[in-house]
Amino acid sequence: MKAIAVKPRNPNSVHLADLPKPRVTDVPNGRGVLVKVLKVGVDATDREINDGLYGNPPPGYDFLVLGHESFGIVEEVGPSVRHVKPGDYVTCTVRRPGTSIFDRIGRSDITSEETYFERGINLLHGYLTEYYVDDAEFVVRVPPALKHLGVLSEPMSVADKAIQQVYEAQKRLLVWEPKIAYVTGAGQIGLLVTLILRLRGVEVFTIARGAKPSLKAEIAEAYGATYVSTQSMSLTELAKHTGKPDLIIEATGNSAIAFEAMSVLGHNGAIVWTSITGGQRKVEVATDSINLNWVLGNKLLLGSVNANYRHFESGISDLAQGEIFYPGVTQRILTTPVNGLDNYQEMMRQLVDSKEALKVYVNVAEG
Ligand code: BGC
Ligand code: ZN
Repeated sequence: MKAIAVKPRNPNSVHLADLPKPRVTDVPNGRGVLVKVLKVGVDATDREINDGLYGNPPPGYDFLVLGHESFGIVEEVGPSVRHVKPGDYVTCTVRRPGTSIFDRIGRSDITSEETYFERGINLLHGYLTEYYVDDAEFVVRVPPALKHLGVLSEPMSVADKAIQQVYEAQKRLLVWEPKIAYVTGAGQIGLLVTLILRLRGVEVFTIARGAKPSLKAEIAEAYGATYVSTQSMSLTELAKHTGKPDLIIEATGNSAIAFEAMSVLGHNGAIVWTSITGGQRKVEVATDSINLNWVLGNKLLLGSVNANYRHFESGISDLAQGEIFYPGVTQRILTTPVNGLDNYQEMMRQLVDSKEALKVYVNVAEG
């Protein structure tokens, strides 16, 4: 069976690997689900792994099969599996439990252990292959009418978790009804967060470098947000126009902007950092003024990573609601299909070099 793999910590090592086809019995107690892979998306995390900045192979291997954003069709299930059956469309969560209390209650996304196990990222092979098997516990159904968006289930789960976490955390304020949100970054997470916040009735400003017109701007505006290019207006200038935001979701992949965003947040506001930045960037930060404003404004800085089963389910519900409110918009994110695992070089080239590619994904099989 073919698989797209890398040698973590070795820059630009993407290659085709060969693996035995897994069997449904590889998972004990009849809980296995064998899935035929249809589509797999790649993102900045895959790029960082191929750049040698991030990720580790499974023990006993010198390579890691990439791919954590999966969409497929169930081919076979073990006798104890109830919630999915052959022919169902599914996606699969990314993180697998360690041993902390959070892992044991199905919340490996908030594990307290520093070592984390993530398919396609850290210590476990991913989905950029022909078939995978996993425990039914991690396999999430995708409704057939959302088949065209199934490959966005994982990024949507990450976006949904970030929003749920901040609403949860802001319960500290007794009343919190965010009116204005800034979303920094208009990649897949930025756009999906824009959608979720619009579904919750928030006025959203989606902020990114590129000038209008652009596909990113069109999608953000089709969701009813305002797109702002930082080439025409800085965050500080924007905040003078709109008033300081109640909420900022940071999804640029740029740690300097993550800190810059802190200086425009309103009182009682919250900022959520979602970017994975494996590099070594350093910038000078106005620590006195941030510290002072943070204290005087009772502000919150929240980090959010990964997503569990329930976030996948709510993410898929939000994708569905998105189709009702903003029909046909979300599929515009899916700009750049690459056909077949053999085209792994093209996949990486699009991911690394292409300015137009908003979302690169591999069509692994028809179905
Ligand atoms: C993935 C998450 C993962 C994170 C950190 C992201 O790209 O979507 O599932 O937890 O990287 O490895
Ligand atoms: Zn990801």
